[in-house]
Amino acid sequence: MPNVILAAGPIARARNGVIGRDGTLPWRLKTDLAIFRAITMGKPVVMGRKTWDSLPRKPLVGRTNIVLSRDGSFAPKGALVCEDFSEAVAIAREQAEDDGASEVCVIGGASLFALALPKARRVYLTDVEAEVPGDVFLDAFDEAAWTEVRAKRHEASDDDEYAFVTRVLERR
Ligand SMILES: NC(=O)c1ccc[n+]([C@@H]2O[C@H](COP(=O)([O-])OP(=O)(O)OC[C@H]3O[C@@H](n4cnc5c(N)ncnc54)[C@H](OP(=O)(O)O)[C@@H]3O)[C@@H](O)[C@H]2O)c1
Repeated sequence: MPNVILAAGPIARARNGVIGRDGTLPWRLKTDLAIFRAITMGKPVVMGRKTWDSLPRKPLVGRTNIVLSRDGSFAPKGALVCEDFSEAVAIAREQAEDDGASEVCVIGGASLFALALPKARRVYLTDVEAEVPGDVFLDAFDEAAWTEVRAKRHEASDDDEYAFVTRVLERR
């Protein structure tokens, strides 16, 4: 299945690297959530168990939800569970092939991004223009290894607490 792209993200990160706080997102960015939905719709999504727990509505509809957990007794309704990241990606790729989807998205959290970034061909990144308190951080990654192919700035508004830039990076 070489044609299915492995993508990391969408990842939304603050200037100080924060991506999460108290098991949820540390900001209100309605427009970015809509962009997340549009990017991932119809594609298999792979996430960590804590990200699954954080979803207000589960599963994410219109997407095969694959959750990584070491807990053999974990059996969430509406998701497949895997104990191994490579296996999760392999299952997601097969599902994408079956569905005619072009890519698989690894949607977090930090531990899943750390596993996906070395292997991904594309990164969907939202740079949030704020420094916020938090307890989950995205590991620094070498942006020189990536080419930015798209970027769009969104102003803060009633819907979006902070300004942010949505970016698409492809591996050089
Ligand atoms: N800003 C963003 O873009 C973004 C995106 C996603 C999530 N978040 C935020 O990030 C936070 C959650 O992220 P997190 O990093 O704490 O947790 P996470 O990556 O969502 O989940 C961690 C869990 O995944 C399982 N896991 C991780 N690596 C594994 C492996 N190699 N093999 C098997 N299972 C594995 C384990 O589950 P078990 O404990 O069940 O074994 C582990 O406790 C929340 O605050 C969420 O809102 C932010």
